Amino acid sequence: MADFPVIDLGKLNGPERATIMAQIEDACANWGFFELVNHGLSPEFLDTVERLTKEHYKECMEQKFKEQVASKVLEGAQAENTETDWESTFFLRHLPQSNIYEVPDLKDEYRKVMKEFASKLEKLAEELLDLLCENLGLEKGYLKKAFYGPVAKGPTFGTKVSNYPPCPKPELIKGLRAHTDAGGIILLFQDDKVSGLQLLKDDKWVDVPPLRHSIVINIGDQLEVITNGKYKSVLHRVNAQTDGNGRMSLASFYNPGSDAVIYPAPELVEKEAEEKNQVYPKFVFEDYMKLYSTVKFQAKEPRFEAMKAAAVAPIATT
Ligand SMILES: [Fe+2]
Repeated sequence: MADFPVIDLGKLNGPERATIMAQIEDACANWGFFELVNHGLSPEFLDTVERLTKEHYKECMEQKFKEQVASKVLEGAQAENTETDWESTFFLRHLPQSNIYEVPDLKDEYRKVMKEFASKLEKLAEELLDLLCENLGLEKGYLKKAFYGPVAKGPTFGTKVSNYPPCPKPELIKGLRAHTDAGGIILLFQDDKVSGLQLLKDDKWVDVPPLRHSIVINIGDQLEVITNGKYKSVLHRVNAQTDGNGRMSLASFYNPGSDAVIYPAPELVEKEAEEKNQVYPKFVFEDYMKLYSTVKFQAKEPRFEAMKAAAVAPIATT
């Protein structure tokens, strides 16, 4: 099997541009995941983000995790627990409105750094969407525009801050159970020392190798719909680890606005597929998320089918 794709974005504006664009195309079409280096966020800045995230976990989250998750999951556990994840998380929303000053227990320095982190990642996400447009033959800005709702509130963007502490019984519980991501494009800054993230490729679980100061990118369900399956969201999971100091991961989700209408780009729909009714559905993003929240850990195909059925036979609400 080919190696997990690592792409040097720093070379994009040099003589190797065509090669880099081809690597991005291959990664999107065949992996649904890739790792970016020289992406514009400096190593020093990422070290600060990592340090503050780990300090915050120790000071404000660890005790709660032990009381609320660890004790519940491990008490007398014999069989595999398929209902809970071995993770400690909180969520920072950046767009359409930031909640960073409302989240309790964050130090001023951490708030400030995370605000800067979000704004750099937002810019990177939008740059990437335009690179995808170029590879797909869509006009520049198409994907960003597709994420805007009719009242142009813009995309939703947020960061799930997760810590995966060492787990004494990894055979009984996953760090995070297998799923595809619902949204648009996901940018992940993960711990550089502890692994655990895996994706499903050709029916085999493949490690996403921890690579210092890289950003892992993956495709969400909405990009699969807009590209009409040219790019696919891919199942991934996190295995709990027994040793070390635990793993940190910051997953930032650049998603459509809640009222955005999502549908395949007409340029990417072939006539034959249309005739055979093999085209992805059209729906309001919020409706997809309502469904996703109840079936996140199940296969995505029935979700697409359900959205298709809902579009064909709308349920009367009056
Ligand atoms: Fe995910």
